[in-house]
Amino acid sequence: MSETPPSPDRLIIRRPDDWHVHLRDGEMLRAVLGHTARQFGRAIVMPNLSPPVTTVARAISYRDRIIAALDPGAAFEPLMTCYLTNETDPDEIERGFKDKVFAACKLYPAHATTNSEHGVTDIRNIHSVLERMQRIGMPLLLHGEVTDSAIDIFDREAVFIERVFSRIAADFPALKTVFEHITTADAAAFVESSGPNVAATITPHHLRINRNAMFEGGIRPHFYCLPVAKRERHRLALRRAATSGSPKFFLGTDSAPHAIGRKEAACGCAGIFNAPFAIESYAATFDEEGALGRLEAFASEHGPNFYGLPQNTDRILLERGSCAAPERIKAGAEELVPFHAGETLPWRFAGKAGGSSEPA
Ligand code: NCD
Ligand code: ZN
Repeated sequence: MSETPPSPDRLIIRRPDDWHVHLRDGEMLRAVLGHTARQFGRAIVMPNLSPPVTTVARAISYRDRIIAALDPGAAFEPLMTCYLTNETDPDEIERGFKDKVFAACKLYPAHATTNSEHGVTDIRNIHSVLERMQRIGMPLLLHGEVTDSAIDIFDREAVFIERVFSRIAADFPALKTVFEHITTADAAAFVESSGPNVAATITPHHLRINRNAMFEGGIRPHFYCLPVAKRERHRLALRRAATSGSPKFFLGTDSAPHAIGRKEAACGCAGIFNAPFAIESYAATFDEEGALGRLEAFASEHGPNFYGLPQNTDRILLERGSCAAPERIKAGAEELVPFHAGETLPWRFAGKAGGSSEPA
């Protein structure tokens, strides 16, 4: 924790990291990367490209493209993940982890979300992979939803705990596991009651919206993401978990940009593009909960501690003041609608606050 007590108008915190982000590729990557790199020291980069990042070679090449897309002088480290398939080779992931290419593996149940068609169809297919990950201490990142069409979409996370996560936890009790972008009180309680090797990320949007946001006055595609927002009681449980000070919960935006035409469509893509105002959004939430003093631990300390990585040593400054989010943001030839579009947030990111930019 920082020695500086939070003041009402200025907050200096250790530079945060984003433990779950979709940076995409090509022109979209070049358009969105700066929003993440401006605020965060590092980010866990999701591998759901097309084709997905399933090998060490693909991860190195993707990492190179990310680094090439950074503004000159930007201090930002992409942490790469391996997309698990039914065919993943345990030796390949171990090699990537030992060579510090892969920070973790991501499990997408097949057909759960964007570009997940190559995902795992049955957890039994990756038994030897999970065994190896447990042995070498490599984290498993879970998209925690079942894909059974008989299960109501709002229940898919809770049923995942019962059908899949509890089995993984029983079979691999020492496996480091992150329940990504949790959306329910059930998930928060499951993580809280699990051992220290089980943690969760929480997005800015699931702390601010409930499922009504998708239907307010008409269908609102920019509030549609997966896992889908749930009832108000779940949002309140997530706010309690995020601001509790528990080391099991940390920042992961799940920023997932899709060009406006792919959102505002008869079959719109899932994903909320929250990177431009992510830390401002979390700051507003923590402020509302009277927990600004716990923002730094959630945003900048619990994540690296869980991953076994050093905390960033540089600091950022947040100032109370109006931060107006535009309706649209240019992304090459496309446009994106950011989370908080048209709103004014009460905290603004005011840049670096001194200190070295290298991790300790
Ligand atoms: C993500 C995407 O678009 O890549 N979408 C989303 O709604 N979060 C995929 C994912 O994380 O589920
Ligand atoms: Zn995601």
